[in-house]
Amino acid sequence: MSAYIIEGGHPLDGSVRIHGAKNSVLPILAACLLAPGECVIHNCPELSDVAASLDILRHLGCRAERQGDAVVVDASAPTGWDVPDALMREMRSSVIFLGAILGRMGRAELCAPGGCELGPRPIDLHLGAIRGLGGRITEDGGGLRAEGALRGADLVLSLPSVGATENAMLAAVCAAGTTTITNAAREPEIVDLQGFLRAIGAKVHGAGSSVITVEGGVPLHGGSYAVMGDRIVAATYLAAAASAGGTVEVTGVDYRHLSTVSAVLREAGCDVQSGAESIRLRRDGPLQGVRPVRTAPYPGFPTDAQAPLMAALTRGKGCTVFVENIFDSRYRHVPEMVRMGADIRLEGRVAVVCGVDRLHGAAVRAKELRGGASLVLAGLQAEGETAVTGVEHIQRGYEDLTGELAQLGADIRQEER
Ligand code: EPZ
Repeated sequence: MSAYIIEGGHPLDGSVRIHGAKNSVLPILAACLLAPGECVIHNCPELSDVAASLDILRHLGCRAERQGDAVVVDASAPTGWDVPDALMREMRSSVIFLGAILGRMGRAELCAPGGCELGPRPIDLHLGAIRGLGGRITEDGGGLRAEGALRGADLVLSLPSVGATENAMLAAVCAAGTTTITNAAREPEIVDLQGFLRAIGAKVHGAGSSVITVEGGVPLHGGSYAVMGDRIVAATYLAAAASAGGTVEVTGVDYRHLSTVSAVLREAGCDVQSGAESIRLRRDGPLQGVRPVRTAPYPGFPTDAQAPLMAALTRGKGCTVFVENIFDSRYRHVPEMVRMGADIRLEGRVAVVCGVDRLHGAAVRAKELRGGASLVLAGLQAEGETAVTGVEHIQRGYEDLTGELAQLGADIRQEER
C-alpha cells in the first residue's frame, strides 16, 4: 500500500499557491446540472472527490471534462436522475446532488450516504429543506426517491448545516417563486456557490449571512466562474510551518477566511502577517499552549482545521484544550499522535494537548482527510522516520501534499510499503 515517508526535523521555507477549494467546487459542480449550457469552472482542484463528481455528472448525461486548471461541464441535455451506489460511495458528500437533480429533472434517486470517518452524517436537514419546497421524498432501505415540482417557501434550518444550505439553494433556484433560507450556514464556500449561481443567471442574495433569498424559476444559462482558494488547505500549510519551524507563505487565498486560525497561531507564538491574497507565517521559538479552541460554524474556528492545529501544538510549552462541537468522531488522529509521543487526553468532545519536548517517528494510519494530514504535520517535527498509510483519505482534499511540502524543504516522499 502507498505510504508517505517523512524524515522529521527539517524547517520549511518558501511559498505555496493554494489550490481551489474542495468544499466550494463540489456544490458548484452539482450546480452545473442546473444550467442548460456549458459551464467552465476555473481553479478547479485535481482531487479524487472532484473526479467522483465528474463521474456523477457524466452518469447523468452531461459532458464533463478537464481542460488544464478548469473543468468544462455541459448539462444541455441531461438524461439521468439517479446516482448509483457505487458512485455515491466514491464520495461522502454526493448528497449535495439531490437538490440539483430534483430541480432539473423533476425526480431524483440516490442512496442515503452512510456514516463516514467522522461519525454519523445525518441528512434530515437536507430532506426537510427539500420537503419544505414541495419535494416528495420516500426513503426505503437506504435508498432515497424524490419527486415533484418545487415551489418557493420560507425554510428554517435548525442548525446552520453547510450541505443542507447548499442543497436548499440549488433546489430553490428551480422552485417557482421566492425562497428564504433562515439560519443558513455562513461559510465562504456558500458565498462562492452564490457567485457561481449568479454567473448562470440565478437570482440569489444574502450568502454569507444567516438569511439567503432565492428568486426561483428564472431562466438559466451556461457561464464561467473561478473557485476560491481552499482556506483549510491554507490552514494546513500554515500549521505545517508552525509544526516544523521556518517561514511559509500561502498565496491564492483570502486571509479573512482564516482569521480564527491565524489568531490561534499568533497566540501560540507564531509571527503571522496577512496580505490581500497571502498569509506568511514564521515560527522559530517553541510554541505555547493557547486558550481553549472551540470548533464552531463559520466564522468560528473551523472543525476542519482542528487536527492540523493540534499537530502543531503537540510540541512546545503548556497545554491547550480543544472542544470539537461539530462532529462526533473527529479525534481519530489522536491515538496515532500519542504513538508518536504526544501527550493528548480525550474526554468525549474535549481533547487536552500538552506540549512535549520531542515526538518520535512511527508507522501511523490516516483514518480521515484532515486527521490524516495532521499526522504528516506531526511527522515533520518528529525525530526519525514517520510512515503514514491510508493516504487515499488525504488525497481527497490535498492536490499534492508531499510535493508541496518537499519544495518547502521537508524530507517527504511517497512509496509503496
Ligand atoms: C461540510 O460538511 C464540509 N464538507 C466539511 O468538510 C466540514 O467539516 C463541514 O461542512 C462543517 O464545516 C463539504 O463541504 C463537502 P454540516 P457537511 O452539514 O455539509 C449535522 C472536509 O474535511 N447535520 O455543516 O456535511 C452534522 O452531523 C469536510 O473537507 C445534521 O444533524 O457539514 C454535523 O454534526 C469534513 N443533519 C453538523 O450538522 C443534517 O441534515 C455540521 O454538518 C446535516 C448536518
